[in-house]
Amino acid sequence: MTDHQVIFMPSGKRGRIAEGTPVLDAARQLGVDLDSVCGGRGICSKCQVQPGVGAFPKLGLTVAADALSPFNAVEHRYDEKRGLKAGRRLGCQARVQGDVVLDVPPESQVHRQVVRKAASDRPIVMDPATRLHFVTVEEPDMHAPSGDLERLREALSDQWGLDDLTLPLPLLARLQPVLRQGKWQITVAVDHDSDTITGLFPALREAPVLGLAVDLGSTTIAAHLCDLSAGEVRASGGVMNPQIRFGEDLMSRVSYSMMNPGGDAEMTRAVRDALDALAVELAAEAGVPAEDILEAVIVCNPVMHHLLLGVDPVELGQSPFALATSDALRLNASEIELTSVGAAARVYILPCIAGHVGADAAAVALSEAPDQADDLTLIVDVGTNAEIILGNRDRILACSSPTGPAFEGAQISAGQRAAPGAIERVQIDPSTREPRFRVIGSALWSDDPGFAAATAQTGITGICGSGIIEAVAEMRMAGIVDARGLIGSPEQVGTPRCELTGRTHAYLLWQDGDRRIQVTQGDIRAIQLAKSALYAGARLLMDEAGVDHVDRVTLAGAFGAHISPRHAMVLGMIPDAKLSKVTSAGNAAGHGARMALCNRGLRAHIETLVRRIEKVETAIAPRFQEHFVAANAIPHATDPFPHLMAELTLPDVSFNTASEGRRRRR
Ligand code: FES
Repeated sequence: MTDHQVIFMPSGKRGRIAEGTPVLDAARQLGVDLDSVCGGRGICSKCQVQPGVGAFPKLGLTVAADALSPFNAVEHRYDEKRGLKAGRRLGCQARVQGDVVLDVPPESQVHRQVVRKAASDRPIVMDPATRLHFVTVEEPDMHAPSGDLERLREALSDQWGLDDLTLPLPLLARLQPVLRQGKWQITVAVDHDSDTITGLFPALREAPVLGLAVDLGSTTIAAHLCDLSAGEVRASGGVMNPQIRFGEDLMSRVSYSMMNPGGDAEMTRAVRDALDALAVELAAEAGVPAEDILEAVIVCNPVMHHLLLGVDPVELGQSPFALATSDALRLNASEIELTSVGAAARVYILPCIAGHVGADAAAVALSEAPDQADDLTLIVDVGTNAEIILGNRDRILACSSPTGPAFEGAQISAGQRAAPGAIERVQIDPSTREPRFRVIGSALWSDDPGFAAATAQTGITGICGSGIIEAVAEMRMAGIVDARGLIGSPEQVGTPRCELTGRTHAYLLWQDGDRRIQVTQGDIRAIQLAKSALYAGARLLMDEAGVDHVDRVTLAGAFGAHISPRHAMVLGMIPDAKLSKVTSAGNAAGHGARMALCNRGLRAHIETLVRRIEKVETAIAPRFQEHFVAANAIPHATDPFPHLMAELTLPDVSFNTASEGRRRRR
C-alpha cells in the first residue's frame, strides 16, 4: 500500500501514513494533539488543520497542491453554514494523498498552553478532567427492547471507547428528553477524573462548559470562572466570607464551634451559601447559566476545609491538631450543597499538608513549584496564620505560624482592612521625620497637589496591613523607633509628631481637625509579635533544612502582593536575601486552584508532592520560642541581615527610658 510522509507542526511529530487516511486518524496514529468533540462527523470543527504547500527545505519535504483530498461535501456544508478560515481543512474529512506538512492551530490542540495572566503565573497546559463527547445513540426498538441509558453506554463505548461511566441520578432524569430533543444525537460531558457523566446536552454542544477555581479564604472567597476547553478566565470575583460574623480569625471560629452546640453547622451553611451565590454571580457576569458549571476545584486552609465539608473543626483547635482527612477529595457538588451549578457537577479539593497547613498551601506549592527549582525558595503566605514552605528539588518543608491578625490591620489602633481610604504606603523623610502616604483608591502621595480632592470621596479612614508594615519600617529607618521597637520622645527624635500617650509615645501620621491617625507603641508591639512569629517559623524550617540563608523569598497571597519587600525585610518579617530575589507571587493559591482545574495531571502531581512535604510543627518545636524572642528586635537581635545592610544603614538609636525599664522589670 502507498504511504506518505506526514509532518504535524508545531510539534514536529512525523511518520508514514497510508494513503487515504483521514488527517484526524493520522494525528492519532502519530500521537499528535488534535481535538475532536464530534468524533469525526464534520460538525464540531475542533479538528481544523492548515496544510502547507510548496517546499519545506528544513523539513526535507515538498508538498504538492493535491497532498490532501479535495474539499468534500461535509467541508463545503460546514464552510457555508459556519465559515472555515481560508486555507483551513477539517482534519476528520481531509485525507492524506501525498507528503504533507500540517499546522495544528492552538484552538485545535487539546493540550494548548494558556497564556499567563500575570508574569508570576506559571503557564497552564490544558488537560481538563471534563471533556465533551458527541455521540449518536440508537433509537429504541420494540423488537429489541433496551433502555436509553444502555444504548447511550453502547454508543459511548463504540464511538469513544468509553466504558463503565457512572450516570448520576439527577442526569438519568434528564436523559430521555435530551435524547429526543437532540434527535438521538447528544453531547456528553465526562469527568475523566472520576469516570462520571456530568452533563448531557442535546445535539452538538458548541458552547464551552465551565469550571470554577475557588480560593476559599477565611476573610474572602475568591473564584475564577474558567472555560474548560480554552482555559480562559470568563469572570473573576470575590465575596466576603460570611463566617466573619462568627469570628474574625480562624481560631475564634473554632472556639465558636466549641462554645456553641451546632455552631459548626451554622458556619457550614454560611460558607456553602456564599459559595453557591458566588457561582451564580460569576456565571451572570460571564452571561452563561450557572448550571453550565460542571466542575469546581477548591483550595482552603484546614479550618475552612472542615467547615465546608461539614466536619466540626474542633480537633484543629487542640493538640495534636488532627485533620479528619488530609487526602484530596473528589465529591459531587451536591454533597456540599452547591445547588446552582450543574446537577451532576463535581468538586475536587486539593489535599491538605498538615493540621495548620492546608490545601491552600498545597495550591501555592503547585503554583510556585519549589520542587522544580535548584534555588532554595522560602514561600510565605501571610494571613491570620502564615503558611510557610521552604525547599527546592531535593527537599520541601512546611509549617504554619500563628501571626495573628495584625498584618491584616486588626489589633492596630487605626487598623482596618485593605479598602478605599486606607493608608497603604508610607514614607518618612529621615531628616525632617515628616511623613507622606498614599491611600487605596488614589495614586497620589499625600503631599502631591490634588491629593485632598482625589481622596475627598473615600476620606482617610485608617491603616491597612501593608500600610502599617511600611509605617513601622519607615519609623525604624528614620530613627523614630529603635531596634527594640520603642518609639522615642519628641526630644529624643526631634519631632513634635512623637507624642506622649500615657506612659509611651506614639507617632502622628495624619491629622485633620479632631481626626488623627497615629502609630502607637501598642501597634508596634502587635506588629513585632506578628513578625516574630513569621520569622521564627521561617527560621525553624531553615534549621530543619540545615541552612542559614535562602536564595529567594516569594510573598504569596493578596496581602503578599502589596507588601514592599524592602520594608518587610527592614521589619525583619522575612529572612535576609537579595532584595531583587524577594518577589510577590500574587494570588498563588488561586492560581494553583486554576491549574488543578485546567490540568488533571497536576492533581496527581500535587497529591504526590504533598506526601513528600515534611511537616514541621511550630507549637512543639523548642527552638521556635528562642527564634521568636530573638526576632522581636527590628530587624533582629542577632541575625546580621548582610544583604539588607549592604543597601541601607539603620540609625543606631536607643530609647530605653526609665519608665519603660521599670515596666519591663515588673
Ligand atoms: S472531528 Fe469534529 S469536525 Fe472534525
